Amino acid sequence: MHKTPEPPIDSRRRLRPHGIAFGGDYNPEQWPEEVWAEDVALMKEAGVSMVTAGIFSWAKVEPRPGEYDFAWFDRVMDNLAGVGVAVCLATMTASPPPWLSRLHPEILPETADGRRMWPGGRQHYCPSSAVYRRYAARLVERLATRYADHPALEMWHIGNEYGCHTPQCWCDESAADFRRWLSDRYGDVEALNDAWSTAFWAQHYDSFDEVLPPRLAPTFPNPAQQLDFARFSDDALLRCYLTEKEVLRRITPDVPVTTNFIGVHKPVDAFRWAAEEDVVSVDVYQDPHDEDTQAAAGFIFDVSRSARSGQPWMLMEQAPSAVNWRERNGPKQPGRMRLWSWQAVAQGADAVLYFQWRQSRGGAEKYHSAMVPHGGTDTRIFREVSELGRELASVPQIAGSRSTAEVALVLDWNSWWALELDSHPSTALNQMDLVLAHYRPLLDAGIPCDVVPPDRDLSGYRMVVVPNLYLLKERDAERLTGFVRGGGRLLVSFFSGIVDGCDRVHLGGYPAPLREVLGLRVEEFWPLAEAETVEVRHLDGSVGRADLWSEAVVPEGAAVVAEFGAGPLAGQPAVTRHSFGEGHAWYVATRLAPQAMRALIDDVCRTADVGPVLPGLPEHVQATVREGDGGRFVFLLNHGRDEVEVGLPGPMTDLLARGGAPADRVTLPGAGVAVLTEA
Ligand code: GLA
Repeated sequence: MHKTPEPPIDSRRRLRPHGIAFGGDYNPEQWPEEVWAEDVALMKEAGVSMVTAGIFSWAKVEPRPGEYDFAWFDRVMDNLAGVGVAVCLATMTASPPPWLSRLHPEILPETADGRRMWPGGRQHYCPSSAVYRRYAARLVERLATRYADHPALEMWHIGNEYGCHTPQCWCDESAADFRRWLSDRYGDVEALNDAWSTAFWAQHYDSFDEVLPPRLAPTFPNPAQQLDFARFSDDALLRCYLTEKEVLRRITPDVPVTTNFIGVHKPVDAFRWAAEEDVVSVDVYQDPHDEDTQAAAGFIFDVSRSARSGQPWMLMEQAPSAVNWRERNGPKQPGRMRLWSWQAVAQGADAVLYFQWRQSRGGAEKYHSAMVPHGGTDTRIFREVSELGRELASVPQIAGSRSTAEVALVLDWNSWWALELDSHPSTALNQMDLVLAHYRPLLDAGIPCDVVPPDRDLSGYRMVVVPNLYLLKERDAERLTGFVRGGGRLLVSFFSGIVDGCDRVHLGGYPAPLREVLGLRVEEFWPLAEAETVEVRHLDGSVGRADLWSEAVVPEGAAVVAEFGAGPLAGQPAVTRHSFGEGHAWYVATRLAPQAMRALIDDVCRTADVGPVLPGLPEHVQATVREGDGGRFVFLLNHGRDEVEVGLPGPMTDLLARGGAPADRVTLPGAGVAVLTEA
């Protein structure tokens, strides 16, 4: 069961920024001190209200084991306090200093094939390393004690992007830690043998001492072992975070803590971690070369909003323009950075921050854009950044407002780990692609959606979408069944409800725990070849195509909505609908082409009586609503290139068009944004 998030700490820090926080990663150690005065002056010019500082400062504040030099960092903090910029202070533990791995080479991580990862990059520590955690905690203790009462301290930024480069480690210390973790989980080794199905291929263990992490093996390592290793590795990272959090809570109990997620990242279960944070923060790097990048970003934003049940969250990092780490790094076209920043706010963010403040002169990220580019302030990027800073500062009343949704989309990290294991009917199933194929039609239709783990209470929703939830516990299947029985509308896609928490097939006909609610069974999986497509004939007469997967569905009460056309499954169900209790459950046995998927989602929404935020939205326009003490705000975002007109239900004022009169239509240029309130 996921923990219910605790309420956030009500911070009483002096510098708490009002409104939407704006700023970025500040890495002053990369620059001579003369530059720092200009930094703070420019921060004021750009409307910066918060920076996150110290992320990579360990080697400089602790140049030798146990010898600290905080004097320079005191001046950084004082400079920021002097101009009223709040600090989300990093615990500085993301990149251990060279002396630590020299003194303790055992902290260095190892890959599954036994290769050591050496220092020279960053995040070169084994998540299970007790030595790393001890040194990290010692530094955090000094840091927290020193800055506990500093007026610039606003919140703590623990570590940085946990699991970004080293999500898992297969070294001997990890192996020992894994064995301890397994022994806590299973109690005795026979329980582990049962959970891992070790009767298969003579894998039976006589004691926990024989167990290893899934290192490079001649063929498929045991799937349940791989699944447990994913859980264990997530736990090992979380323990690093919690070790530091425990120190901070003891010394600064009233300062909120966060850590920045890397988008929706497979190794880190954001739902579990969010319960251990006071506020969720996330880094999102849209790809300007991808025409559809706002859908993937939108999904991450909705996960961030949902992870602490709707509480406003922080966009901790985004690029002002290009990144440096894709093969080809396109800049953000004029206006797109503003649009995508507003998209984050429209989907619940109360902070818009960047990586990073000043573009590095040397090092691996010197071609990554920054708020202050190599070219200085007379640049498009600095102008766009500063304009956005001013614009966000002009609408402080948005902060704290929240959104509601009648639709929930189910995402489960355990199922994600299991779905993408090897030795499956098809290894072409990618959880994020599949989830986005369900999310995009909702976004395009203007329908707000929460993203929830399968053990979340569903009673507040009218409609639940379950994309390819391969691993499903009986009690979560019962929750979905009960949701439909009570009148909910449920859409489930293929290869859902197939295995239990140990990757063992639920016997009794696929998908056994969902058969009753779906009114069908699946007799055989029929995955498609690469680039193969199948015809899908809808009983309403429309004909479309599908790819990736098909299966032999035997209805047991469900009505057929669409069937496969030609091919081995011709005439068999491709989409079904089952009336069950007071509700209805749809099942999709293939991957429908986007248009057909949109039509199906629209149909389920209609039956569920779920509508868009604004009816009649033009194509490419996203609409969301946030509501709070400061008012009710309707956000309109034009992701298209062309100007569009949007009709409004009544006269509204655009808060961003200063001095604009109330109107019942609004014109949005390509990449345009409006934040409307009722006149
Ligand atoms: C991540 C890291 C930053 C920086 C950016 C570059 O988000 O947290 O330190 O490396 O990527 O995009």
